[in-house]
Amino acid sequence: MDYRGPYRVRATEKPHPVIEHPEDCIVRVTRSCICGSDLHLYHGLVPDTRVGSTFGHEFIGIVEEIGSEVQKLKVGDHVLVPFNISCGRCAFCKQELYGNCHESNPEATAVGGIFGYSHTAGGFNGGQAEYVRVPFADVGPTVIPPDMDPDDALLLTDVVPTAYQACEMGGIKKGDTVVIFGAGPIGIMAAKCAWLFGPSRVIVIDHIDYRLEFVRNYAPCEAYSFKEMDDVVEFVKKTTDWFGADVCIDAVGCEASGDGWQTLTGRKLLIQAGSATALHWAINSVKKGGIVSIVGVYGPTGNIIPIGNVVNKGITIRANQASVKRLLPRLIEHVQSGRLNPKGIITHRIPLEDVADGYRIFSEKMDNCIKTVLIPPSAKR
Ligand SMILES: NC(=O)c1ccc[n+]([C@@H]2O[C@H](COP(=O)([O-])OP(=O)(O)OC[C@H]3O[C@@H](n4cnc5c(N)ncnc54)[C@H](O)[C@@H]3O)[C@@H](O)[C@H]2O)c1
Ligand SMILES: [Zn+2]
Ligand SMILES: [Zn+2]
Repeated sequence: MDYRGPYRVRATEKPHPVIEHPEDCIVRVTRSCICGSDLHLYHGLVPDTRVGSTFGHEFIGIVEEIGSEVQKLKVGDHVLVPFNISCGRCAFCKQELYGNCHESNPEATAVGGIFGYSHTAGGFNGGQAEYVRVPFADVGPTVIPPDMDPDDALLLTDVVPTAYQACEMGGIKKGDTVVIFGAGPIGIMAAKCAWLFGPSRVIVIDHIDYRLEFVRNYAPCEAYSFKEMDDVVEFVKKTTDWFGADVCIDAVGCEASGDGWQTLTGRKLLIQAGSATALHWAINSVKKGGIVSIVGVYGPTGNIIPIGNVVNKGITIRANQASVKRLLPRLIEHVQSGRLNPKGIITHRIPLEDVADGYRIFSEKMDNCIKTVLIPPSAKR
């Protein structure tokens, strides 16, 4: 795919990627996904998203070629490739903070490199393509276990680790009430993963009825529309004996709806980096001493958040890009044992040639879309 500017993507012929460094490999993509994070790019909200770039950070594929220093991978391996690009040897990678690699993104000191996620995340081309160059090939790519469904493997590149880490960062304990804002793929999977930590209630809040219905059955959990609430924070307090939730997860990020002022300042006038509506709701409806876990993406610059409430309520906020590699071994086990069923969220399969339709359907929430998989023409052969 090829980014042409906000709301414009197309399928086009591009040069075949080549090995640029001895630790690179070239992967022939067998499937990729469109993510909620791609919508921030598609809507033109991520700085330095250059025309001509290829998006796509959720993909699996066959190793087609390896650089001279690659040791662990072989040509022909079917691999899942974590969305973060990590060197495996910097101070941050050594702490398993693979989402914060210090070497893979020369543009910033916060986030590491990410496939297909603008020059603020290193300027790498992504996997919504037939072929992709994968740097540090011995670090990220993981051979897909032979008994694993490729669709499950695909969702292990981002959705499942991000959702799981949201729960982990939330410190969910036995008996907790967990409130998850957002019923996109991440919120839905977070609701599923939350049960692995033993809470007594899992509540999801969104305003799109088909997604609420989906998560109610998939997780399963309670799910409510904020459109039908006078006041979201009061709703959460009321249903928790006026204490507030033990853990709130923001799985919405910078394109939240639901508050006119946030939408105006964050999405229309762009005087703050996106609307922080879900974050406000999370901070204000968590109990004192509770934990807010943020995986929704916010821009690199400032948002007007109620930081005073954070301090005065003693809230712990933990946030990060998911450390996919750290989590993979245990998540593979959960999938293999059947405790997690990631492919259950896939609703659409679209040929890569029709990528523009894929983005429109997902962005406009058409056709009950939850998760879209793009299939390159070479994968059909
Ligand atoms: N931290 C990470 O590693 C990581 C990885 C993947 C995705 N993300 C981010 O997670 C977020 C969710 O991703 P997704 O794929 O599920 O996206 P999505 O766009 O499909 O889902 C977002 C959902 O939030 C809902 N929503 C909007 N405003 C809301 C509000 N105020 N309260 C509750 N719900 C609201 C929308 O209706 C939508 O269903 C995005 O910001 C994405 O960039 C982060
Ligand atoms: Zn993603
Ligand atoms: Zn590193």
